[in-house]
Amino acid sequence: MPEKPLLFTPLELPGVTAKNRIVVSPMCQYAAVDGVATEWHFAHHHRFAVGGAGIGFVEATGVEARGRITPGCTGIWTDAQVPALAEIAKIYRDHGALSGIQIAHAGRKASAQRPWHGSGPLSTADEARGDIAWQPVGPSSEAVSAGWPAPHPLSVDEIRDLVGKWADAARRALAAGFDIVEIHGAHGYLIHSFLSPLSNRRNDAYGGDLNRRMRFALEVTEAVRAVWPKDRPLFYRTSAVDGIDGGVTIEDTVALAKALKARGVDVIDCSSGGLRGSSTLATGRARPKLGFQVPYAERVRREADIKTMAVGLIVDAAQAEEILERKQADLIALARELLYNPFWPLHAAQALGADAEFAAWPEQYGWYLTRRAKALALPEAAD
Ligand SMILES: Cc1cc2nc3c(=O)[nH]c(=O)nc-3n(C[C@H](O)[C@H](O)[C@H](O)COP(=O)(O)O)c2cc1C
Repeated sequence: MPEKPLLFTPLELPGVTAKNRIVVSPMCQYAAVDGVATEWHFAHHHRFAVGGAGIGFVEATGVEARGRITPGCTGIWTDAQVPALAEIAKIYRDHGALSGIQIAHAGRKASAQRPWHGSGPLSTADEARGDIAWQPVGPSSEAVSAGWPAPHPLSVDEIRDLVGKWADAARRALAAGFDIVEIHGAHGYLIHSFLSPLSNRRNDAYGGDLNRRMRFALEVTEAVRAVWPKDRPLFYRTSAVDGIDGGVTIEDTVALAKALKARGVDVIDCSSGGLRGSSTLATGRARPKLGFQVPYAERVRREADIKTMAVGLIVDAAQAEEILERKQADLIALARELLYNPFWPLHAAQALGADAEFAAWPEQYGWYLTRRAKALALPEAAD
């Protein structure tokens, strides 16, 4: 192990430095009202900021109302949504962490139920709860899978209009004070559905060969980069493989990553799956191997020569450190592990020998925990 664990070595990004390599992966909370983040979101992000993450991402946030996954998803399509997002950016800033927001459009997977209501398409049965279905859009009229509505296929004019909404979202992200924007190009949502030949049946400039299927992703990226300052990093989340015959392959993703790099993307966040259902490959029927998406981050990093973020079933400090040591990725994103233990970064620093004395903890906690540790190490008092 190097003298200072790589997990706790700062990472320089354009214009900003992450204090460590641990990232709060974007996580929908389904707790927004009219797309506006609520007290729940503040508590959720406070936990991770106090827990020592280097970068915290706000969940998939819709660039337009019909681009939300569920009625409870956050949005960034009006200025009224900015103040609550600014509050989240401030939470991370106050704890010396960078803040990011994932801007997104759910495409044909929009108008869905919250996970605990079934994750299926909204129907009249959901109206009693106040959840009213809307018409999803997509590259073609191909539905997600049986039982899902056929999306409205976007016209070229509608695509142009939508690209502008991504740029507007990036402008609002800047106004909210975020350090990083991540474009959500994964999990079967709109951008991914343009990329995959299994969901894009167009035969115009936006469909056909890989270059045409990449066009929407690249136009969105160019539009966002044009308004997102050069001294703030731009991330892009990809589903590196569809995991379905005839779908997106890792070779496609390497080609995409090269094109994204040429357009000013700084980090590729390597997830996978999600094209035909609610779940991603991280949540299928059998448990994948720990760190099963890490090889995608490694391959994209090596072949496209760009920084990558690894995510998916990364659960302990030694595993995370090894990913960095083996140069498979530059950043480690955690989702469910942080729900389980928001203090994971502080615990990891101790496990890797980077914080013997609780010095990294907020002093309100560290002062007591140092003394608690000493007390626990004493021999037990006789009765
Ligand atoms: C509650 C929850 C919400 C999620 N929401 C998003 C999201 O908004 N955007 C996204 O790209 N991935 C989302 N994901 C996927 C995670 O970011 C992550 O890629 C996945 O859970 C695998 O990492 P893990 O094994 O550490 O949980 C979500 C996952 C969870 C558990």
